[in-house]
Amino acid sequence: SDTQTPDYKLVPHRQFYLISGVHSPEQVDQIQNWEIRDSDIFIITYPKSGTIWMQQILSLIEARGNVMATKDQLTSERIPWIELIGSEKEFISAPSPRLRVSHLQYKFVPLGLKQKKGKVIYVARNPKDVLVSYYHFHKFAEMLETPKDFNDFFGKFMEGKVYGNCWFEHVKTWYSHKDDMNFLYITYEDMIKDLRSVVEQISLFLGKHLTEQELANVVEHSTFHNMKHNPQANYQMVSDTLLNHQKGTFMRKGTVGDWKNHFTVSQNEKFDRVYQEKMKDLPLTFVWDI
Ligand code: A3P
Repeated sequence: SDTQTPDYKLVPHRQFYLISGVHSPEQVDQIQNWEIRDSDIFIITYPKSGTIWMQQILSLIEARGNVMATKDQLTSERIPWIELIGSEKEFISAPSPRLRVSHLQYKFVPLGLKQKKGKVIYVARNPKDVLVSYYHFHKFAEMLETPKDFNDFFGKFMEGKVYGNCWFEHVKTWYSHKDDMNFLYITYEDMIKDLRSVVEQISLFLGKHLTEQELANVVEHSTFHNMKHNPQANYQMVSDTLLNHQKGTFMRKGTVGDWKNHFTVSQNEKFDRVYQEKMKDLPLTFVWDI
């Protein structure tokens, strides 16, 4: 399309899309061979499901609530993406604990994770809000094609023609393999409803026992308000060639149910039909409104 920056393009690779100029297929194919340590922690998400939120929480838990640990470094440097070009060398030589993040499908990630080495925190969000958040993100992220309008994006999302591919496949595949991994499943809506409980649950999963004060600090510095005003936490320093800061902000709205302000009745009916069909074998439920 004429609005897409020519350097960035969705390129199909093993039934997944990569973004050219951001990911390299050869490198992504190597990831499964990376050696995993027991202390490795991976955050896995479909895009727009609260990735940056979990990155903030995890780095704060690791720092026992000390906010300085999240103020002197970009989120993406504290918890880097494994699929970005150049990440392999850095991964191999990094000291423990290695905290990493990925949107990749299950089939691409290190085999060690599938043998119960390391830990995986999977964050899922109700897919109607994911769709809306992703729509706004496409208008603001220069590496993604600007949608013509909401309906155009709705179609692309339902067909899985976006980075991350099909939301249904992502959640289904990861969730159905949960018993092969040290796996914690968290939802965005749980974090909205009771952030403190989720932080406790993650600390327990990681075997990190925080004091009341440390827990309170983690929670305080992970609120939407504090993250929105923490430039390191919300990609404000990323260059305009990747994120056009004139067109949007990473910390956009942070609510449950914004889809109601975007979906038409017929889009909603269509979505519900697809959802019923694709999710019928999964024991997962989502909160659509709070
Ligand atoms: P919205 O666009 O709905 O506001 P990701 O990091 O996976 O790309 O997800 C980004 C989404 O998570 C955005 O959703 C963003 O506002 C939301 N988010 C990030 N930090 C949050 C927080 N502390 N509280 C609530 N929502 C948060």
